[in-house]
Amino acid sequence: MQEYKEIEISAWTKLGEGGEGSTYTNPQMPGVLLKLSNHSLTSGSLEAVSREFYASKAVYDLGVPTPEMLDIVRSGDDYGILSRHIKEKKSLAKMSGENPGSIDGYAARMAGLARQFHATDAGGSEGIPSMKRLMLEVLDNTRMIGGKTLRRVRTFVEGLEDAPTLLHGDFSFCNLIMADDKPYWIDLGSASHGVAMFDLGHFYLFCNIFGKQKRVQDIAHMTADQMRQFWNAFALAYHGPEGLDEFNGRCKRFAGLAVLLLGHIKNLTFSERFFLGQLAKVLTK
Ligand SMILES: Nc1ncnc2c1ncn2[C@@H]1O[C@H](COP(=O)(O)OP(=O)(O)O)[C@@H](O)[C@H]1O
Ligand SMILES: [Mg+2]
Repeated sequence: MQEYKEIEISAWTKLGEGGEGSTYTNPQMPGVLLKLSNHSLTSGSLEAVSREFYASKAVYDLGVPTPEMLDIVRSGDDYGILSRHIKEKKSLAKMSGENPGSIDGYAARMAGLARQFHATDAGGSEGIPSMKRLMLEVLDNTRMIGGKTLRRVRTFVEGLEDAPTLLHGDFSFCNLIMADDKPYWIDLGSASHGVAMFDLGHFYLFCNIFGKQKRVQDIAHMTADQMRQFWNAFALAYHGPEGLDEFNGRCKRFAGLAVLLLGHIKNLTFSERFFLGQLAKVLTK
């Protein structure tokens, strides 16, 4: 078994805390950020941490603007990732919340960067799995939908192209940060390849459906209306005005797939599974 460098956590200062772990810096290691996962969560296992490390590294190697991955380390039972620390950064979400008058402009900026991201060919890149294949696996095991709905969704996914297009996997304005007007995509642990609609569906879900939840508004630093406004400006700039309604309809369908993926990633309670199953059914219609 591979040995990972053990770090002394008392030498590190906590910067922030997320759902999955915390970030730290160390004056002895300037320019380095530690993202330490909590082992008590499944996302903190060595398997999940190394998947995030190698996927992010592969994306960096494809030339996408993202912080360089440096090393996998351990602190007792917890595993973490060292990456290049982007200082004085702000997410597009935070910028939008602080300056709502500029939401349309920020959304157009993100759309331009997203088009560049989705112009990246990840075919043949190791560590970047196929989203179509993953989605079919999710459908094989899902307990959120069944019967006719499941058959309809499976037919839809089977008909999709297994495109080499690079996908972010957790595509949102929270995972695009700016420092000195330079953009960086972060949180690339779910990077994959497939049709770009997978990323757009995920973001549609975030802005237009989950944005109604207070918890999501706190994460996004925006109100439900502001997130919908962000989406509308983003969609217009990403797709163009021609056939925009149809584009939104397609995004909604992929939002349904994003819901099913969520059930695969998170441990859901019975009622969450029921609620999200109903949502997936409606969205994929
Ligand atoms: N390389 C980096 N440089 C600076 N800040 C970062 C970097 N990577 C992550 N962060 C900060 O840490 C937070 C959590 O990181 P992220 O990778 O998005 O993890 P999570 O899975 O918790 O969403 C981000 O919101 C961002 O502010
Ligand atoms: Mg994130």
